[in-house]
Amino acid sequence: MAQTWTPNSWRQKPIQQVPDYPDLAALEAVETRLAKYPPLVFAGEARRLKTALANVAEGRGFLLQGGDCAESFAEHGADTIRDFFRAFLQMAVVLTFGAQQPVVKVGRIAGQFAKPRSSGVEKQGDVTLPSYRGDIINGIEFTEEARVPNPERQVMAYRQSAATLNLLRAFAMGGYANLENVHQWMLGFVKDSPQAERYRKLADRISETMDFMKAIGITSENHPSLRETDFFTSHEALLLGYEQALTRVDSTSGDWYATSGHMIWIGDRTRQPDHAHVEYCRGIKNPLGLKCGPSLTADGLLELIDLLNPANEPGRLTLICRFGHDKVAEHLPRLIRAVEREGKKVVWSCDPMHGNTITLNNYKTRPFERILSEVESFFQIHRAEGTHPGGIHIEMTGNDVTECTGGARALSGDDLADRYHTHCDPRLNADQALELAFLLAERMKGGRDEKKMVVNG
Ligand code: TRP
Ligand code: MN
Repeated sequence: MAQTWTPNSWRQKPIQQVPDYPDLAALEAVETRLAKYPPLVFAGEARRLKTALANVAEGRGFLLQGGDCAESFAEHGADTIRDFFRAFLQMAVVLTFGAQQPVVKVGRIAGQFAKPRSSGVEKQGDVTLPSYRGDIINGIEFTEEARVPNPERQVMAYRQSAATLNLLRAFAMGGYANLENVHQWMLGFVKDSPQAERYRKLADRISETMDFMKAIGITSENHPSLRETDFFTSHEALLLGYEQALTRVDSTSGDWYATSGHMIWIGDRTRQPDHAHVEYCRGIKNPLGLKCGPSLTADGLLELIDLLNPANEPGRLTLICRFGHDKVAEHLPRLIRAVEREGKKVVWSCDPMHGNTITLNNYKTRPFERILSEVESFFQIHRAEGTHPGGIHIEMTGNDVTECTGGARALSGDDLADRYHTHCDPRLNADQALELAFLLAERMKGGRDEKKMVVNG
């Protein structure tokens, strides 16, 4: 393993999932331009997120991470961002209530553009073209022109990320996230939603609590924490040329940070310890995610932990487990035991989406009951092992799409064609996401009651 790390030391390593840019000089020119552009996030913010995640690693918080599978240029707009943020805040408030713990809010947004693919090519009939790799690389249309990787798309993605982040910062700090607005977050929420009534009841209780606090002198004017929330961004660090261009030295600490987002993660397909993606990520100081799938061995995980978090700093590393509802019981316990045995500090998060994808009526979909089942098993296993189920990582949207089957509205395979808009994997719609949050909140409340019984009994 090379000892010296530089923002470009990954270029000496084997690498997976690299787009085939036809014009390397044009690619280099774009990377040089991006390297001069302002950072999207600041080192101090990434450190703040790390501190919040350290609390989660120690069992004193819960991580909510979610957003699009892949952001798209076509769907970029204020309404999409607002609807996502509203659904996300609703989930956060439900979870905060259920966990009675702070919820660390991290979007898969403002940078989630590049997609790893299982095959380099896509076949339709007897036409074979390069696979779509995300809007930051090529176009989704099944034409020869669209599928050619175009470096200018990196500049577009950068600018879209900046605009998205700008609006999100305004929402998070400018009053929209005020807990006095919990009822207003209902607006635009589908009226006949099975979750509407449930959510309204919770919102009533929060409003009542706010009224009580106001009566005793605690208001959102004198307590900013009631009206502001820390919202962070994250994405898969897949396109390393782009990441390198946005890697900057923090003048306060002298450390290197990825400034493309607060947290970045390594995918299940690119986590080879001696390859480029691990090399890049080990040298930056941001909080990192590592996707853990069924093929990850306990020793393999420990090796990666040592590479990515040699100082065993809590909050640095989040293990995002994505096994599948029928495999989680086989794989999660062996990883938990290895990590516990070695005393490694990590956040355990559950991605119940990526191991539960099936094809139905020619659509890629995910049955809601399998998503729930994986989350439930994740909680049960942690309870049995005495470890903290620290978070969830989901693909969701604030819109009323029909991409995952099931949920209280019982979307069927035949409904998928109605509003199937995703650029990549099927997402939970606002209704399903909120339903998941309610069910989780109940589990967490159940866990607390159980603990109390043990203490009192
Ligand atoms: N600042 C607290 C937090 O972020 C409380 C809070 C304000 C909040 N607005 C929120 C919580 C919106 C959830 C959703 O947790
Ligand atoms: Mn996905």
